[in-house]
Amino acid sequence: MRTLTGSFHAYIVPAITSVGSAVPARTVTNKDLEAALATTDDWIRQRTGIERRHLASTEDKTGALAANAAQAALNASRLTAEELDAIIVATSTPDDAIVPTACQVQAALGASRAFAFDLAAACSGFVYACAMAGQWIKSGQVQHALVIGSETFSRLVNWSDRQTAILFGDGAGAVVLSAVPSSRDDWYCHLGADGSGKDLLFAPRGSYLQMKGREVFKFGVRVVTEELERLAAQSGLRLEEIDLFVLHQANQRIIEAVAQRLNLPPERLFSNIAHYGNTSAASIPIALAEAAQKGLLSPGSRVALVGFGAGLTWATCLLTYRPPGTE
Ligand code: UT7
Repeated sequence: MRTLTGSFHAYIVPAITSVGSAVPARTVTNKDLEAALATTDDWIRQRTGIERRHLASTEDKTGALAANAAQAALNASRLTAEELDAIIVATSTPDDAIVPTACQVQAALGASRAFAFDLAAACSGFVYACAMAGQWIKSGQVQHALVIGSETFSRLVNWSDRQTAILFGDGAGAVVLSAVPSSRDDWYCHLGADGSGKDLLFAPRGSYLQMKGREVFKFGVRVVTEELERLAAQSGLRLEEIDLFVLHQANQRIIEAVAQRLNLPPERLFSNIAHYGNTSAASIPIALAEAAQKGLLSPGSRVALVGFGAGLTWATCLLTYRPPGTE
């Protein structure tokens, strides 16, 4: 395909064309938690990097947060809702057992042509969903997909368990992935799971979240490092050629340990965990929305997304950022 500028584009690749996020209005600081738990602001900051988080009040729902984030991403695009072909919501905390969150979003936006479904892969869910949407775009079946991560993990947390209560926050983030012409076949994704680790982090139906924090920590550092080494080996790109790394925001020390192991400058690993905590499947799209807002993504920026979490599951996608007018 030859473009108006005369450059030759041999490939169609999935690219992030717009981003959006939505969080509950209520914020809870570490100091607020000190009053209710045997913990301190200092401990939480030093061991996790978290300073505050947004927590759902009774009116805040996973579906409404997802719809608000999706609407923000759609507003930032040049698309109408009818132009969307697919809506995927990654969530482990849907409002209802039946009726996918994605169908709530479809109705709220009026995206009448889109197929819609939810995907549950815990904290890796958003990157799993990007991988699916990306493959459909590559195959030509989908032109524009809305991919959302939305969670209200505060409803699963035992608020007297200091290990988990300090970590999690609520919110939603969304991206539009569109088919764009490219001179390079930069699309890459890789997914993984290890069900033998299911007891490290789980929430039985009707009960609280339980976590073996240290083991999940070690798993996170190991698997993200391996995923990025694999990306470098299989994508034909050196890690230095990737502009921004947006990892699941689970613990600042995990992000720093990965940067150190791979010898990456810390500023290329985006972090906003200080203000959101761990929002599970929503953490990566919330981070992407903030990175774009802060001007850390330019047209053509290459972004590596790596999710990991319960299951155990993990997932990596390499995407290019092409905001409206630069597709
Ligand atoms: O989304 C993916 C899933 N989650 C994660 O990725 C979480 C990964 N894990 C972590 O982020 C960390 O393991 C935690 C933040 C959960 C815990 O940090 P840690 O440095 O691994 O602490 P630890 O569990 O090894 O505990 C160290 C000490 C213990 O006291 P003793 O036995 O040394 O006396 C804990 O009882 O810190 C104590 N502790 C706390 N103290 C104050 C544990 N939680 C707290 C707390 N405040 N909130």
